[in-house]
Amino acid sequence: MAQNEGKRLAGRAALRYVEDGMVVGVGTGSTVAYFIEALAERRDTIEGAVSSSEQSSRLLRERGIPVLDLNATGELALYVDGADECDPHKRLIKGGGGALTREKIIAAASQRFVCIIDPAKRVDVLGRFPLPVEVIPMARSHVARAIAARGGQPVWRDGVVTDNGNWILDVHNWSITDPVALESELNQIAGVVCVGLFARRPADVVLIGDREMA
Ligand code: A5P
Repeated sequence: MAQNEGKRLAGRAALRYVEDGMVVGVGTGSTVAYFIEALAERRDTIEGAVSSSEQSSRLLRERGIPVLDLNATGELALYVDGADECDPHKRLIKGGGGALTREKIIAAASQRFVCIIDPAKRVDVLGRFPLPVEVIPMARSHVARAIAARGGQPVWRDGVVTDNGNWILDVHNWSITDPVALESELNQIAGVVCVGLFARRPADVVLIGDREMA
């Protein structure tokens, strides 16, 4: 089965968690784009969405779904987002699309995090996908040195500026055996805005797109 078909199936499957009157937290990426497509079918039954990126906000508006401010909605019942990797404990690497900070905020503000992935995203140990770390621009080299001292190989995602005006380091060649500890440790480095590890707040539900869902 093609990877895109897995993404489409997972995106559509998340619709079953959407209830009437909800404000839905919406992540970012190609899998989420399929979810937004499906969510548009329910646009008259929901209040709107809180978006994790300018990209998703644009897609939501194009589909006629109101984009709301998290400061005005309060906590959310549901957040739907993709991931770059997912381990058997529903811990994730996210941020391949650069939206990790807003994604982590919405995940933290949501009661239920439904993660939608195609089968290729499943791993036993996180780290094959380079770990994104959003940094304040002036701290890029400082953070890179601190990460290198811990055994990672940071590569600047040159030319990319996040929706928050920051930069991203992608950390290669890390086998992440204790993601909870690493997430906490990296968060302590001055200049780190957000680490793309979602281990302290993992997904609650993981929907893996395959034929059986169809
Ligand atoms: C966006 O910043 C990411 O966290 C995405 O959720 C992740 O990269 C998955 O993207 P795809 O659904 O496009 O694979």
